[in-house]
Amino acid sequence: MAYAYFHSTYWNRIGIAPEQPVLFSHRHHAGELRIDCRNCHATVETSAFAGLPSTQACLACHSQIFTRTTMIRPVVQSAVEDVPLQWSRVSQLPAHVFFNHSIHVAKGVACITCHGDVGAMALTAKAEPMTMRWCLDCHRDPAPRLSPPDRIFEAVAGREPPRAGGAELMEYYRVRTDSLTDCSTCHH
Ligand code: HEC
Ligand code: HEC
Ligand code: HEC
Ligand code: HEC
Ligand code: HEC
Repeated sequence: MAYAYFHSTYWNRIGIAPEQPVLFSHRHHAGELRIDCRNCHATVETSAFAGLPSTQACLACHSQIFTRTTMIRPVVQSAVEDVPLQWSRVSQLPAHVFFNHSIHVAKGVACITCHGDVGAMALTAKAEPMTMRWCLDCHRDPAPRLSPPDRIFEAVAGREPPRAGGAELMEYYRVRTDSLTDCSTCHH
């Protein structure tokens, strides 16, 4: 029983979208409108944190369009009252774990490899367990999980297999595996 519970999707919260202040849809914005991830997650290539969009980033478009729908009202209210939107976190590691977005993006790990087909999600939910075992599975053997540079920011997985093989991509990105499974890499 305990084993089944621990390994159930409920425990890992896979596929369960937390409540958000606005019914924001990645399927609409990233999937259909094809807005690049970096427009809203501006620091994903340069820092540990991907960053979450400010109200101003939404108003870049929504001061002109869809301003009257009730769905946008919390965005407008946030701007008028000058109170930031409080997005609920979908995937969050415990404080004792060190994670860094910029190195993964630079070394060929695509967003969708860790976050699933975000561009198909009406409401954002966790797609991967994000446990230590999950991190280590890739750190032991990243080659088959790397993507070519033009596929890093894809919103949904393309049907075509990547043209380059894992070994080629390991060389291309100069991926170093010597200390990737050391405790101190993820626990400082
Ligand atoms: C128009 C702005 C916008 C674009 C474009 C966008 N996002 Fe987001 N993203 C958000 C907002 C707002 C949230 C917080 C609400 C939510 O979780 O749905 C969010 C949350 C997330 C989360 C959950 C983070 C967490 O742990 O709380 C992930 C993962 C994510 N985005 C990935 C992506 C990826 C990958 C792309 C590109 C394919 C992308 N986003 C494009 C606005 C955007
Ligand atoms: C680059 C322009 C752009 C940005 C930036 C943008 N949106 Fe939108 N958004 C749109 C468009 C266009 C639609 C209408 C889509 C349609 O119905 O055809 C839309 C629709 C919506 C809707 C209505 C429901 C839906 O998905 O159709 C909500 C809610 C919304 N956006 C929230 C947000 C939030 C919150 C942000 C900031 C995190 C944001 N948008 C940023 C262009 C944008
Ligand atoms: C190697 C796996 C991995 C890749 C690749 C990855 N993420 Fe994440 N992402 C995570 C983890 C793990 C967290 C939780 C981090 C934490 O709690 O410290 C996270 C958190 C986030 C968040 C919440 C804010 C934050 O930084 O904590 C957003 C937004 C996000 N990711 C977007 C993206 C986008 C966009 C991409 C691609 C450009 C991307 N991620 C690539 C694993 C990944
Ligand atoms: C799909 C593959 C993949 C997944 C999943 C993954 N990583 Fe990584 N990780 C990599 C690659 C590739 C590198 C870059 C190695 C290099 O420096 O060449 C890396 C590097 C790192 C680094 C930087 C190491 C350094 O020497 O600076 C940290 C920290 C890290 N990962 C933590 C995590 C954590 C924590 C998780 C799980 C939440 C995780 N990673 C999940 C592939 C992955
Ligand atoms: C690639 C990243 C990574 C490496 C390397 C890593 N860990 Fe972890 N560790 C994590 C993540 C992510 C978590 C939090 C999620 C979880 O508990 O599965 C974690 C959690 C833990 C916990 C807390 C477990 C709990 O039940 O709360 C301990 C203890 C731990 N790690 C010890 C170690 C030791 C010892 C090593 C070296 C043999 C190590 N870790 C190597 C990523 C890593």
